[in-house]
Amino acid sequence: MTEETTRALFKKIFGGDTGEVVVTFAPGRVNLIGEHTDYNGGHVFPCAITLGTWMAARLRQDRTFRLYSGNVPHQGIATFSMDHMERSPGSDWADYPKGVVRIFRDAGFPVTRGFDAVYLGDLPTGAGLSSSASIELATATMLSDLFGLGLEDQAGRIRMALLGKETENRFIGVQSGIMDQFAIALGRAGAALFLDCATLRYEEVPLELGDCDLVIMNSNAPRELAGSKYNERREECERALQSLRNAGLAVGSLGELDEATFEAWSSAIEDPICRRRARHAVLENRRTIAAVRLLRRNESGGAERLRRFGALLNASHLSLQFDYDVTGRDLDCLVESAWQQRPCLGARMTGGGFGGCAIALVERSGYEEFVEAVGKSYLGFTGRECTFLRTTAGEGARRIS
Ligand code: GLA
Repeated sequence: MTEETTRALFKKIFGGDTGEVVVTFAPGRVNLIGEHTDYNGGHVFPCAITLGTWMAARLRQDRTFRLYSGNVPHQGIATFSMDHMERSPGSDWADYPKGVVRIFRDAGFPVTRGFDAVYLGDLPTGAGLSSSASIELATATMLSDLFGLGLEDQAGRIRMALLGKETENRFIGVQSGIMDQFAIALGRAGAALFLDCATLRYEEVPLELGDCDLVIMNSNAPRELAGSKYNERREECERALQSLRNAGLAVGSLGELDEATFEAWSSAIEDPICRRRARHAVLENRRTIAAVRLLRRNESGGAERLRRFGALLNASHLSLQFDYDVTGRDLDCLVESAWQQRPCLGARMTGGGFGGCAIALVERSGYEEFVEAVGKSYLGFTGRECTFLRTTAGEGARRIS
């Protein structure tokens, strides 16, 4: 998938040689560690990947938007007017770009005319690699360009990430945190972003994995109820935080707590489910900080550092499985199969969970062996094929031409 295929698709759908057609691209993301910590005021460590969403658009003279996705061609062209920007009753991919336009307008940006646009992506949809945030940021980047909003610098990109998050929260109705949009808007080739979600301060950490590759394993399990369960987890964490405050602990978010403080106060959270959710949020944040320390360039001890990094990935998965309860049978089976392979230094689910993808740190020399063994074992246990992809950290959202 390239700029040319996207332009060709645009021409096929909307025709004409008049008017400038702009092309933007926004990647997907993978999270190395720091899961379900973003909305708890903790740290995350994602990177943008090289797969993503291409968008080609041309301004119109009126207030109409016509949107087409090459990924769901049977849905045809979605058409709506700037004067009717409500979410559609079913679940419709076009709600993401529509929501972005709406949120930009609500924020006072002069999006004053409609456009025709096509989208074309090579991210697997609904696999937990942020295909929706990718559509949001391709659209945001496009709006910035078409309407001269000047959001290309660092502050502008952070603003776009926040507007993308607001689209999810207010328009789509998923109370997600900032991680996905931030990684996609600010991603850097070759680096992962160590982001403090409480302050939005971040550091680009070179993703140097020595003799290992970062492997994405798609469980191809549908992400059922992902949105509603996600919101439920978020509420459970809020209840846990409230219990700690009621007991007299002055704390702004679970991300502020270290392990010792949490252990000392955790009995104040009476509901055992909320206590487990909070424990995950607190310990996962500490693991994320520890993992980044291991990867920073100036630390010594190559292979051993990566082994310790891998062990943190494993601990993260177990916590998501038993304390946070967001993994599910397919992801557990996939990750456990990965753990059993000699070339694997660590593996865990990535993203929101409830199906979707896992990642593994795999010695390059043993990659083929790894893929064969995990694929076979996963198929045997679940009846599903697993898809593998070696990935590197890619560049964030941008105008292509
Ligand atoms: C989804 C959300 C993110 C984050 C992850 C879990 O991807 O969009 O904000 O909460 O789940 O870490």
